Amino acid sequence: MSINKEIKKVTTNTLQKMKAAGEKITMLTAYDFSFAKIIDGAGIDVILVGDSASNVMAGHETTLPITLEQMIYHAQSVIRGIDRCLVVVDMPFGSYQSNSDIALASAIRIMKETGGHSVKMEGGEEAVDAIRRIVSAGIPVMGHLGLTPQSIYKFGTYTVRAKEEDEANKLRKDAKLLQQAGCFAIVLEKIPALLAKQVSESLTIPTIGIGAGGNCDGQVLVMHDMLGINTEFKPRFLRQYLNIHQQATDAVQQYIKDVKRKDFPNDTEQY
Ligand code: KIV
Repeated sequence: MSINKEIKKVTTNTLQKMKAAGEKITMLTAYDFSFAKIIDGAGIDVILVGDSASNVMAGHETTLPITLEQMIYHAQSVIRGIDRCLVVVDMPFGSYQSNSDIALASAIRIMKETGGHSVKMEGGEEAVDAIRRIVSAGIPVMGHLGLTPQSIYKFGTYTVRAKEEDEANKLRKDAKLLQQAGCFAIVLEKIPALLAKQVSESLTIPTIGIGAGGNCDGQVLVMHDMLGINTEFKPRFLRQYLNIHQQATDAVQQYIKDVKRKDFPNDTEQY
């Protein structure tokens, strides 16, 4: 039997055991109560309350505008919907980069006000001091390397990262530093599959890939992309499992038709 099915509550220790046993870790984003309930009920290992809420919930072009207060609101809603999975809450841009005091205060707010189980932070060497402080306070931290969307204006493009040897070497080094700083897992976003494999094999903590190939210890997708709620974003790494956009459009059009032709509500749909 898989470790996944045996356990009542997924913890950071569960993920460690899954890596050791070669069992893949599943992670999806969620931002609200109702979808968190569906995703947790379906048996996911980890829900990420991603700062991608800035894009898919608020309609911003980047993840930069979302605030700590808004992330706390989303995480509170998710926590009310789950029973079993581990919940990771993204620390938004501006809530941890200035210094480690501010980072620790932001992480404490997330844990205290949301009931979330851990936080995620983007960056390598430059984030290590803050990660150490947060881990020392007893808060589990997930790292995030590769295409880190909070740095999009530094990169200037959403293309694959670490294709050149210099950047690949920095990523290898950063992954080790994050592990040493106490991260319990690391997201690897949009990097070559071979590099992700090497990094995953070199670490004792699990890697969770998005656009980083099949040899990461787990996979993550943005819920709106994989359910086809958002149909404009079609990167090569995405597998779309539903087309909710189309199904919802059809349903709304049918409702409009039914009301206009006085079919809804019928005799059984009223008091
Ligand atoms: O915010 C997010 O959805 C993420 C994933 C893409 C890993 O960080």
